Amino acid sequence: METVVSGIRPTGNLHLGNYFGAVKNFIKMQNESNCYFFIADYHSLTTHPTPEDLHGNVKQVLAEYLASGLDPEKAVIYLQSDVPEVTELYLLLNMNAYVGELERCTSFKEKVRKQPDNVNAGLLTYPVLMAADVIIHKAAKVPVGKDQEQNLEMMRTFARRFNRMYKADYFPIPQAYNFGEQLIKIPGLDGSGKMGKSEAEGNAIFLYDEPKVLKKKVMRAVTDAGPTQMNQQKPEPIQNLFTLMEVVSDKEALEYFDEQYNQCSIRYGDMKKQLAEDIEKFVAPIRERIKEIKADEAYLGRVAKMGADKARESASRTLNEVREIIGFRKF
Ligand code: TRP
Repeated sequence: METVVSGIRPTGNLHLGNYFGAVKNFIKMQNESNCYFFIADYHSLTTHPTPEDLHGNVKQVLAEYLASGLDPEKAVIYLQSDVPEVTELYLLLNMNAYVGELERCTSFKEKVRKQPDNVNAGLLTYPVLMAADVIIHKAAKVPVGKDQEQNLEMMRTFARRFNRMYKADYFPIPQAYNFGEQLIKIPGLDGSGKMGKSEAEGNAIFLYDEPKVLKKKVMRAVTDAGPTQMNQQKPEPIQNLFTLMEVVSDKEALEYFDEQYNQCSIRYGDMKKQLAEDIEKFVAPIRERIKEIKADEAYLGRVAKMGADKARESASRTLNEVREIIGFRKF
């Protein structure tokens, strides 16, 4: 069975766009592959070195993924910082990672621009740690978005280089997991683009948004003055509302408002009210589960422990072999 690894940064909360994108795919993959999903808490220190509540952030993200359907019986779910083997492999890989190539990475250059007062070495070696995350499980596939392509390329470089330098056909070369056409792109509420892409206030609906907040966001979604011709094409902000309806509402509601739009008699207020209700219906059980899981420290403890044990089993196997290949020997 194919091994898949993906890391989750504990810096943002899940919104509907994540849910219908990455999370849905993780849930599908956990049934088909040997999956390792982890919370990249070490990585988060490269941009947030002194987090106010690191444990709280990790707990929130873990609870959200579990509430959304990640299953600790099917996938290995763990915290990066619970697997010290990863950091040891990171150290070893750092010896074969060149400063020049790391400095040329676009995400590094971007971070230098964004945080000129904190250009730390962890930021520079971010791709090395990411490579360690993946190849420690000898993974074949990494399900990440387009923004991670260069990190993936670096990962392949380090895996290939290790194999070449130590004349060992050891690490598989990880490939991007291609979601193909099945990915639904959830639009944001600010009239353009993907949910979560812009930081505009109210653009994204989070899984933990309370009903009132959620409704307010939907009611404030960008619209226009209304159609002026029968059956006219919908401009982006309007199409966005219909796309959201497609995923959360029933067919009748969708057809009703589509008809109203085509007849130029649509009332956006009514449509948004329906949409807000349907999103609430969809999100409510997930929100309740997030709360339940967050309150159940014992359960979270069991999940983290089980994940850490399984991840360390796989990781220590690789690390022992790597040490052997490089030439470390016990006296
Ligand atoms: N860099 C990834 C992100 O920003 C998170 C991540 C860390 C990751 N390690 C990984 C993703 C390993 C895939 C595999 O989203």
